[in-house]
Amino acid sequence: MANCQPTLCLSLSLLLLLLCSKPVNSQQPQANISLGSSLAAGASQDYWLSPSGDFAFGFQQVTGGGRGNSFLLAIWFNRIPQRTVVWSANRNELVPDGSTIKLTEDGNLILADPSGRPVWNPNSVGSGVSYGALLDTGNFVLADRNATVLWESFDQPTDTILPMQTLANEGTELIAKYSRTNYSNGRFKLDFQTDGNLEFETTHYPQMRSNYPYYESATVTADNLSYNQSGSLFIASTNGTILGNVFDNRESRNDFYQRVTIDHDGVVRQYVHPKRNNMSRWPMEWTVSDSQPPNICTGIKGFIGNGACGFNSYCQMESGMFPRCNCPQGYVFMDPTDHSSGCVRNFAPQDCVVKDGNDDDGDQFDFVEMVNTDFPNGDYQFLNSVSEDMCREACLSDCLCDAVLFRDGQCYKKRMPMSNGNVDPANGGKTLFKVRKTLLKIRRQNSTYSTAGERKKNDQSRKLMATAGWVLLGSSVFVNLMFIVGSCPWRKKNRRMNRVGDESDEAMESANLQRFTYREMESATGGFKQVLGSGASGTVYKGVLGERAGELVAVKVLDNMPERDGHDVREFATEVKIIGGTNHKNLVKLVGYCNEGQHLLLVYEFMSNGSLADSLFGGGEGTFPRPNWYTRTQIAYSVARGLVYLHDECSTQIIHCDIKPQNILLDQGMTARISDFGISKLMKTDQTRTTTAIRGTKGYLAPEWFRNVPVTAKVDVHSFGIVLLELVCCRKSFLLDFEKEEEMVLVDWAYDCYSRGKLYKLVEKDEDAMEDLKKVERFVKVALWCIQEDPSLRPGMKKVVHMLEGAVLVSEPPDPSSFMSAI
Ligand SMILES: *[C@@H]1O[C@H](CO)[C@@H](O)[C@H](O)[C@H]1NC(C)=O
Ligand SMILES: *[C@@H]1O[C@H](CO)[C@@H](O)[C@H](O)[C@H]1NC(C)=O
Ligand SMILES: *[C@@H]1O[C@H](CO)[C@@H](O)[C@H](O)[C@H]1NC(C)=O
Ligand SMILES: *[C@@H]1O[C@H](CO)[C@@H](O)[C@H](O)[C@H]1NC(C)=O
Ligand SMILES: *[C@@H]1O[C@H](CO)[C@@H](O)[C@H](O)[C@H]1NC(C)=O
Ligand SMILES: *[C@@H]1O[C@H](CO)[C@@H](O)[C@H](O)[C@H]1NC(C)=O
Ligand SMILES: *[C@@H]1O[C@H](CO)[C@@H](O)[C@H](O)[C@H]1NC(C)=O
Ligand SMILES: *[C@@H]1O[C@H](CO)[C@@H](O)[C@H](O)[C@H]1NC(C)=O
Repeated sequence: MANCQPTLCLSLSLLLLLLCSKPVNSQQPQANISLGSSLAAGASQDYWLSPSGDFAFGFQQVTGGGRGNSFLLAIWFNRIPQRTVVWSANRNELVPDGSTIKLTEDGNLILADPSGRPVWNPNSVGSGVSYGALLDTGNFVLADRNATVLWESFDQPTDTILPMQTLANEGTELIAKYSRTNYSNGRFKLDFQTDGNLEFETTHYPQMRSNYPYYESATVTADNLSYNQSGSLFIASTNGTILGNVFDNRESRNDFYQRVTIDHDGVVRQYVHPKRNNMSRWPMEWTVSDSQPPNICTGIKGFIGNGACGFNSYCQMESGMFPRCNCPQGYVFMDPTDHSSGCVRNFAPQDCVVKDGNDDDGDQFDFVEMVNTDFPNGDYQFLNSVSEDMCREACLSDCLCDAVLFRDGQCYKKRMPMSNGNVDPANGGKTLFKVRKTLLKIRRQNSTYSTAGERKKNDQSRKLMATAGWVLLGSSVFVNLMFIVGSCPWRKKNRRMNRVGDESDEAMESANLQRFTYREMESATGGFKQVLGSGASGTVYKGVLGERAGELVAVKVLDNMPERDGHDVREFATEVKIIGGTNHKNLVKLVGYCNEGQHLLLVYEFMSNGSLADSLFGGGEGTFPRPNWYTRTQIAYSVARGLVYLHDECSTQIIHCDIKPQNILLDQGMTARISDFGISKLMKTDQTRTTTAIRGTKGYLAPEWFRNVPVTAKVDVHSFGIVLLELVCCRKSFLLDFEKEEEMVLVDWAYDCYSRGKLYKLVEKDEDAMEDLKKVERFVKVALWCIQEDPSLRPGMKKVVHMLEGAVLVSEPPDPSSFMSAI
C-alpha cells in the first residue's frame, strides 16, 4: 500500500463526495487480499484496488458526522475525478481517523474504531475464508481455498446496483442516502419484494418501513433483478424469462462506466460516464441516461408522510429531471441547509382567543396565491359550489385555517402541516396561503412578492360574505343528499348564463373538440328520431355528420337541466375537456359538443355493434348475436385496459363510477370501448379517495358507496368484477328465477361453484368455454378478487390485467361476502 499525499480540491466541494485527497503514486492492482491484511482510516488514504483499477475499496473521508467521525468504509469508482461511492459498510455510523478494516487471520472482516471496538462486520460468513478480493465488477468478495464465494458486497447493496449485479427477491432493499453529501439512510427505498414486485417507496423516516409506493413493476413470480452486461436492468424469473424491463441502456460497457442509483431525492436514475476522454459528444461526468418515475412530485400521494419534499413545502420538476423543494411565500425552510426539512410559517399565526369582544385578528391577513399548486390528501373541510371570494372569506374567518385550495367552485380547507405539495398544470385551481399583511407589506416594498391583489372591502361586507359561506356549507350537505336521490352530476340552479360559458368553450376547443350548433345537431339526428339508448344523464340518438363525409355519430342529449348557472357550465366544461383529452383504443372517443343556452349535447363516435348488454343479455332475439367465448375474453381484456388508462394513465385520474354492460360498447371489430363518462366523478389529485354522493347503478355498486368511507378507483374494480362474471356466464348478475334459487345472485352462485370445485356449472351450455376451463377458473378467481367487500383487498386494474392475461398467478380468493355480517 503506497502512501498518498493529500491535496485539496476546493471546487468540487458540495456537489461531490468531498473525497478530499488523491493518490500521488498509483496503487498497485491488488490480486488476492491475504488473511491478516488491513487498512487504516486517515491521512494515508490506503485502499485496495480491483485488478483493472476501476474500483477501489477503503476509507473515504466525508463531511459532517460530528466529533471527528468522518470516514466511510466504501467501494468507489476510482478512475474518474468524481469518485462516486457505490457501496458502503457504515453509512449510519461514520468512524474517526485511526479506525481500521482488517481481514483477520481467522477469516473475519472487521471494521473497528481506534479503540478496537467493532463497528461493522458482515454476518453469516462461515469459517473457511482464505482470501478476499475486489473484483473488476466492483464486488468485494470473501472466498474459500477453492475460490467459492462465501460473502459478497453485491449481496448487501446500499443505494446502487452495478452491471453484472443480480439481486434476489428476498426482500432486498436499496436505501437512498439522506442528501447529496450525507450518506446515512434517507427517506426513500427501492424494494424488491418476495413476490417479485419491484417498488420504489417512501419510508416512515427515520424508520425504514415502507410507506407509499410511487413506482411498481407489477411483476409477480420474479426471482431476480439483474443488471446485465449490456446495461439493461430487468426483472426475471429463475428460468431466465424476462418479466419486466426497468432500464434499457444503449451505451456500451466497454466505453462507459455505469450504475443505477436510488438518489437522495427518491428518483432512481441510470447514469453513464465515459471511460476515456476521446468521445466528443460526452462530457467527462455522470450523465443520466434514464430515470423513474417520470415525475416524483406528482407521483407521491401518501396519506401520511411528507411526500417528495418536506411538510408544507412543494415540489417542482426542474428541467424535467430533478425535483426541487420550495417553501410557499411567507414560509421558510426549517433547516436552511436542508431543503427536505420542510417549511414553517415566518409570521405569528391567527389568534383564536377572543379578546375584549374583538375576535377579528382575521383582518390582519391576506392571501398569497399559487396557481396549479396542490397538496393532495389532507382537507379538514370542504365547501361546494362557492365563489373564490366565499372561499377566501371562509378561510379568513376561520382562525384554524392556514390555507385553502380553490378549484372549479370547490373550496378545500387544508389540514396542517400539509404534505405531498406539488406544482403541475394538470392540478388546475390554486392554493391560497393565509399570510400576515405586515409580512406582505414588507415583501411588497422589497418588491420580491406580489399577492393576489388586496381585496378592498369593508368589514361589513366581509362579515356578510362569511355568513353566506357558512350557510352554503350547510346547504351543500343538502345538495349532496339530493345527489344520492338524483345521481345527476350537472345540476340545475339559477338561470345565469354569463361569460363563463365563453370561457368553457375556449377550454373545450383547446381539447380539439368540434363545436356544433343545436340546429346542426337537429339536422344530423333528423330531429332526434332514432333513439340508441337512454340513461340517468340523458338520451342518446343516432346521427350523421354531413360535413364529415357522412360519419355516423351518437349524440347524447344531457337532460334534466332546464336552468344552469355559471358554476354548472364550468363543471361541464371541465368534464368535457377531460373526456376530450382522453385517447385510448378501448374508450369511446368524444368528437364534439354543443353548448347553446339550455342545450348541452355530447357527440361521440358511433359504435356499430351496440352495447355489451345488447349482445350478452339479448338472448339471441336482438339484432346483436351473443359473442363467443374468445370474443368475451377479448372484451374483458379491453375493458380492463380501458380502465387502467382511466385510472392510471390520464393526467387526471378518472373514476368511471358506472361500469356496466350498458356502458360498454362494441365497435365494428367487436373491440370493447368504455363509454359514458357522464357520471364519472373526475378525481383531481387531492381527491383520489373521497367521500362523495352515490353515483352508479345498483347491482354493480361497490359496498363502500353505502358506507361512510372514502370512495376510490376500487369502486370501478368492483363493478368490473361483476361485469366479468356476467361475461363468463352470459347472464345478468341477478335473475328473478325462483326455480333455481341458488343461482339467483350470480356472485353467490359463482363463489359457490368455485369453492365446491364445480366451475363448469357456470358455463355448462358454452362448448368453447367448457374446453377452456382453466381460463374460466382464472377469470372467475379474478372476478372474486375484484368484488371483495374490503376495497383494499381488490387488486388495482393494472394487476387485474396481468392476472387476466395469466402473466401473474392468481391466488385463492376469499369468500367475497365474508365481511357481510360486519356491516
Ligand atoms: C486468489 O486465490 C485463489 C485461491 O487461492 C486462486 O485460485 C486465485 O487464482 C487467486 N487469484 C489471484 C488473482 O491471484
Ligand atoms: C445526516 O443526516 C442525519 C439526519 O438529518 C443526521 O442525523 C446525521 O447526523 C447526518 N450525518 C452527517 C454526516 O451529516
Ligand atoms: C475444496 O475442494 C475439495 C475437492 O473438491 C474439497 O475436498 C474441499 O473440501 C474443498 N474445500 C473447501 C474449503 O470447500
Ligand atoms: C441484457 O438484457 C436485455 C433485455 O433486457 C437483452 O436484450 C440483452 O441481450 C441482454 N444482454 C446480455 C449480454 O445478456
Ligand atoms: C437468478 O437467481 C438464481 C438464484 O437465486 C440464479 O441461479 C440465476 O442464475 C439467476 N438468474 C439470472 C438471470 O441471473
Ligand atoms: C419460466 O417461469 C415462468 C414463471 O416463473 C413461467 O411462466 C414460464 O413459462 C417459464 N418458462 C420456461 C421456458 O420454463
Ligand atoms: C477511445 O480510446 C480507446 C483506447 O484508448 C479506443 O479503444 C476507443 O476506440 C476510442 N474511442 C473512440 C470513440 O475513439
Ligand atoms: C427587505 O429588504 C431589506 C433590505 O434589503 C431586508 O433587510 C429585509 O430582511 C427584507 N425583508 C424581507 C421580508 O425580505
